[in-house]
Amino acid sequence: MNYLIANWKINPQSSREGLELISKYNIESRHKNLKIVVCPPFTYLEYLTENSGKTFDWGAQDCFWEKGGAYTGEVSPLQLKDLGIKYVILGHSERRDNLEETDEMINKKIRAVLRAKMNPILCVGGGKEAIDPKSDSQRIVREQLVKGLANVRKKDFSNGQLIISFEPPWALSTVSGNVSASPKLAAEAVFAIKQELGAMYGKDGPDIPIIYGGSANAGNVSQFIKKQNLDGFLVGGASLNPPEFEKMINLLK
Ligand code: PGA
Repeated sequence: MNYLIANWKINPQSSREGLELISKYNIESRHKNLKIVVCPPFTYLEYLTENSGKTFDWGAQDCFWEKGGAYTGEVSPLQLKDLGIKYVILGHSERRDNLEETDEMINKKIRAVLRAKMNPILCVGGGKEAIDPKSDSQRIVREQLVKGLANVRKKDFSNGQLIISFEPPWALSTVSGNVSASPKLAAEAVFAIKQELGAMYGKDGPDIPIIYGGSANAGNVSQFIKKQNLDGFLVGGASLNPPEFEKMINLLK
């Protein structure tokens, strides 16, 4: 199964524009080998899930770890589930970097999302120490996996429920002067992720889907998918461009 996960970040500027964007996606049916997940800002989720009438799954870009209580400004996994949201992006490099989100916080969120029987997408490879393109991605992804999945046992998730995204911050399309990771570097990081998952979960570990995020577009997905056992992409900028996103769908379906 391939995954194409659209991460809209704080775009577009209104839920109406979000609906317009979705209407241009031109996704009429579900694909056997491709799962499409769209992750709009929180405030558009209810409006879009009710009005878009589309045949893909919905995700959120973050959530809190408690299911309720005195946590001003936060949104719980169960509140998202109530809207029909299935996926939650957690530990995105922009949150690790701009909001100083720690592995311990991310770990609590991962466990809360699994407890809610939803699908967490754990992003690794980000954070302040990863901003330099010469940083050691393999060490960083290994450490973030071990900490992010602390106390998550194999029996806590089913096949395909947990997704890992390799997300080097310097490759994001919003970073000026960015370049997408080279397929070789992504291959090395995916190898390190698979090894670490194998060490944590035995023979089931390497079956956990691994996707890549960082300036993925219709021009580079084929190169990435060919060599390194990737199961899809977390797509920011290109998901706001419907013809580009459609090309990616056609390449991966
Ligand atoms: P980008 O974002 O495709 O715009 O680089 C990827 C992401 O944030 O997941």
